[in-house]
Amino acid sequence: MVDGGKFKPPIFIHHLADCEPGCCIGDGTKVWRWSHIMNGATIGVGCMIGACVFIASTVRIGNDCRIQNNVFLPDGVIIEDSVFIGPNTTFCNVKKPKAGKRGKFETTLIKNGAVLGAGCTILPGLTIGAGTIVGAGSVVTKSMPDNVMCWGNPAKIQRFQYFRSDMDGKTDNTEQKET
Ligand SMILES: CC(C)(COP(=O)(O)OP(=O)(O)OC[C@H]1O[C@@H](n2cnc3c(N)ncnc32)[C@H](O)[C@@H]1OP(=O)(O)O)[C@@H](O)C(=O)NCCC(=O)NCCS
Repeated sequence: MVDGGKFKPPIFIHHLADCEPGCCIGDGTKVWRWSHIMNGATIGVGCMIGACVFIASTVRIGNDCRIQNNVFLPDGVIIEDSVFIGPNTTFCNVKKPKAGKRGKFETTLIKNGAVLGAGCTILPGLTIGAGTIVGAGSVVTKSMPDNVMCWGNPAKIQRFQYFRSDMDGKTDNTEQKET
């Protein structure tokens, strides 16, 4: 397809990935080995889904997202556009799960341009704001607003960003939270 003047090549599905019939994957998206995308899940255009990623039936992923290896996306997770999710990040959708009883799952929303570092755990029913960065290894127990940097267990807001910050240190547009 042609998107903004750029040609998006066809999708690439590694032959060892399991994309169930009925999942919907946009042009230019790549799905790497051992990933499992369930019937009904939708993934936008130009995404990268790493190896061993699990994506449940009701998950919605926007365009140009990067989901790194071993990410667990259960029912109820909605990811907007240009979101980065670091390796081994886990989303939870039931607050007090019980073996043998399927609880009602809660919805989690990750807004445009958010970045979740490696190895984060996101508790059920939360929203991570647009452009917000969650540091590696964080346990997020409360929703986060737009354009903050947070980290820790439990994750706390550490900095406010005036603009979307990049991760390579070239722009310094953040302000330390007053303590
Ligand atoms: C959150 C993050 C963006 C902050 O980067 P930064 O603004 O350059 O922060 P600094 O390195 O200056 O760290 C500031 C302080 O916070 C601490 N800190 C930074 N990130 C932390 C984290 N994830 N968890 C706990 N503490 C953290 C540092 O130890 C430092 O503490 P100090 O002031 O006592 O020395 C970065 O540390 C991070 O976690 N990035 C995610 C990387 C990642 O997962 N990439 C995935 C692809 S591999």
